[in-house]
Amino acid sequence: MDRSIKIAPSILAADFANFGQEIQTIEAQGCDWVHVDVMDGHFVPNITFGPDTCKAIRPHIKTVMDVHLMIAPTDAYLKDFVDAGSDFLTIHVEAGPHLHRSLQYIRDLGCNPGIALNPSTPASSIEYVLDLVDLVCVMTVNPGFGGQKFIHSQIGKVETIREMIGGRDIHIEIDGGITPETGPLMAAAGADVLVAGSAVFKGGSVNNSNPYGVNIRAVRDASEAARKL
Ligand code: DX5
Ligand code: ZN
Repeated sequence: MDRSIKIAPSILAADFANFGQEIQTIEAQGCDWVHVDVMDGHFVPNITFGPDTCKAIRPHIKTVMDVHLMIAPTDAYLKDFVDAGSDFLTIHVEAGPHLHRSLQYIRDLGCNPGIALNPSTPASSIEYVLDLVDLVCVMTVNPGFGGQKFIHSQIGKVETIREMIGGRDIHIEIDGGITPETGPLMAAAGADVLVAGSAVFKGGSVNNSNPYGVNIRAVRDASEAARKL
């Protein structure tokens, strides 16, 4: 499995009226995945968009469509998000009581399941579902908003999860407050996918796209240098 550092810009920090061009621009500037944050105003205190928007942006994504569901309950909506073209579909540990069933359902629908943990949720919460997932997303902010401060206590959690995974082909993704300073801490702890919203989109736009590339390379290069082999 490819454990090199992959940068997944979160379109939460993009121009919401121009997702298609924003996605084409960050891909042209060298991002590896596209991270899509779905929020319901119930599981998290913010609302973004649903499966129809995911379906509309899908044709613009040539890399990987990485959909992060911050919604509860999840099950009734999973098929819609798979049909919208998600490559990875991630649900939260905290989003419902039947995590095992929900993850199996995502797999049965033909998608790669991911599991996300809020900062207060221990690594042990995913012990019995690890064999069902292709991705573990460790939240390094409380989900709901971009531009928050990285929570350092999550470094130890990532190290623990890296050990739990062992030789299995499971990505470790970090979401929240990733910068050229915090990315390397997580790469050293064992992460390979770094979500970055504000750190990628700052200073740029679709008409001034160079900063996007500079920002992506700044996080990737610093983190790749710190990566454990
Ligand atoms: C938070 C979202 C993140 C967020 C990251 O709820 O899941 O993906 O957009 O934004 P930054 O990189 O600005 O912390
Ligand atoms: Zn996210």
